[in-house]
Amino acid sequence: MDTLLLTAEQTDKAGEILAHGGIVAIPTETVYGLAASVYDTNAIENVFKAKGRPQDNPLIVHISSLEQLTSVAKNIPPEAYELAKRFWPGPLTMILDKQDSISDTVTAGFSTVAVRFPSHETALRIISAANVPLAAPSANLSGSPSPTEAGHVYADLNGRIDAIVDGGSCSVGVESTIVSLFERPFRLLRPGGITLEQLQSVLGEVVVDRAVTAKLSENEKVRAPGMKYRHYAPKAPVRAVKGSGRDTAEYIRSRITEKTAVICYREYADEFSNCYVYVYGDETAKDELARNLFSVLRETDAACPDIIYIQCPDDSGIGLAVANRIKKAAGFDITEL
Ligand code: TXA
Ligand code: MG
Repeated sequence: MDTLLLTAEQTDKAGEILAHGGIVAIPTETVYGLAASVYDTNAIENVFKAKGRPQDNPLIVHISSLEQLTSVAKNIPPEAYELAKRFWPGPLTMILDKQDSISDTVTAGFSTVAVRFPSHETALRIISAANVPLAAPSANLSGSPSPTEAGHVYADLNGRIDAIVDGGSCSVGVESTIVSLFERPFRLLRPGGITLEQLQSVLGEVVVDRAVTAKLSENEKVRAPGMKYRHYAPKAPVRAVKGSGRDTAEYIRSRITEKTAVICYREYADEFSNCYVYVYGDETAKDELARNLFSVLRETDAACPDIIYIQCPDDSGIGLAVANRIKKAAGFDITEL
């Protein structure tokens, strides 16, 4: 299959392909998504195939207006509207009771559906042009880092999907926050662009699911199936090091060999030599760390190092999302200093 490359202006064309059963990679403010009409089971199956995604991992449904929410979810609690008022459009996904019209292929047999109203202008125009909600997982091959540029999508999926819409670099850089409103107390299933603190300011108590911070054992219940897979993983083993910038820099420096790659804060870049060095942002600029993480993981992989060390931020603010992605890339191999 030839993959068509579209500009951000060609949203009508993208909408037309989607309305006719095609699958299209679209930009969002978090990461690129691989979209299909939520009502086209065949197209949804093609999304799973193109990504090599396990069948038991449900997709997020993207809407472009609050009116569309009731067409995909039912029994919507008032808290969902409170969250929508504060954080939609934006990087927040809510788990709600699904409408019968949403197929088991989308939700992997769950009675719930994940819904998100993205803020990216191009994404919104494409959903409107397709005239249906769009189911879309991240537009990467299953297991590799999520794409934050059209080039990442091209590298993973060229020849496997109908089109890629180039909307430039994603401004958030990590995926949306997933909160389950389906159970009480409310539960954070995946940290992301909206922080835990922001959720708590609207919802009060929010439980952080164990899968966010720890490796689940074989028989532990997984609420968001995506959280159980090794993910964001470069080919070389990743070692996450958490602590102050100074301490983690010292720790990593004493372990460097020629084939080591270091992903570090800008402030410490000069301290590493005779190895590959990649900067992903200032120690205190966690938004920047989030924005650059996936891109830097891909770059690091291209150098084929033996091992990758990475300075990992603390859990406050968007640090929880950055640390979660780093831990997953590291298979939860993390050293806390
Ligand atoms: O920012 C994002 O959310 C991006 C962009 C494209 O919107 N999408 C994204 O999709 O990250 P994906 O498929 O890579 O991750 C979706 C996650 C998975 O962990 C999946 O298991 C979980 O959402 N999920 C989807 N439906 C669910 C449901 N009904 N209950 C629990 N978890 C669900
Ligand atoms: Mg994904």
